[in-house]
Amino acid sequence: MLFTGISEEMRPLVVVKLGGSMITVKNRPFTPNIQVIDEVSRQVSELREEYLFILVHGGGSYGHPVASEYRISEGFFHPDQLIGLTKVKLRMNELTQLILASLASYNVPAVPITPVSCLTCSSGKVEKFFTEPLRMMLKLGAVPLLPGDVAMDYSEKKFTIISGDSVAAHLATEFNAFKLIYGTDVDGVFTGDPKHDSNANLIPRLSRGMLNSLKASLTVSDVTGGIFRKIEEGFNAAEKGIRVIIGNLTKPGALISIVKDETGILYTMLEPG
Ligand code: IPE
Repeated sequence: MLFTGISEEMRPLVVVKLGGSMITVKNRPFTPNIQVIDEVSRQVSELREEYLFILVHGGGSYGHPVASEYRISEGFFHPDQLIGLTKVKLRMNELTQLILASLASYNVPAVPITPVSCLTCSSGKVEKFFTEPLRMMLKLGAVPLLPGDVAMDYSEKKFTIISGDSVAAHLATEFNAFKLIYGTDVDGVFTGDPKHDSNANLIPRLSRGMLNSLKASLTVSDVTGGIFRKIEEGFNAAEKGIRVIIGNLTKPGALISIVKDETGILYTMLEPG
């Protein structure tokens, strides 16, 4: 075992959201994309010499089917929904466990943190987040790993789903991250749906002003609002000075390229203001 004694707090923090579309096979329930998870773990392991990390992961084909079956994001309206909280947690725990095992196999000291235990929401948005354990982990150079999760909500909703996108944006802002990277299975934000429209073009720099025309051409499909939630959350962080990137982390080496600003990789950067 090698202990190098690096001064961890000097390393810039990168917050990475591993989107459900990249770490799971979206249209096959409860199917992980192990190859992508392993390649991300390998890259995090390599980058850790120079950067600190917080990793957040989405639900993909683990969390979303169960959350929509029990209509968790609509809030509490029937006691039969309660077992849905359990079933979402069961599935999300499975996915967290797979990612954790992969990170451990690359010697990345990740520590899972479950948002339902340390944050509360109001009307579906994070209200309070007890981040002290994360701060202490970062000081040591450990890597907090958080899923999108069920969450308790002070409003009449009583509970909700908090997306990994919100968790990542909140933490990137709180810890003044160097970069916030939203990993997906496409190269960034397009003028149309890149999977179905060959004329769709990648938008390298996206401003808030461009959003409305985009909303007309793209559809929203999952329980936490799809790409627009990600973009909205991202803009909140970008407006506080964080460099926010939406990119394709299913490509081998892409995380390293984006973190290190290597040329030749395509992505969308959010433009504040
Ligand atoms: C959703 O998290 C978590 C649950 C459904 C419990 P995200 O909204 O961040 O997941 P993806 O990335 O869109 O799959």
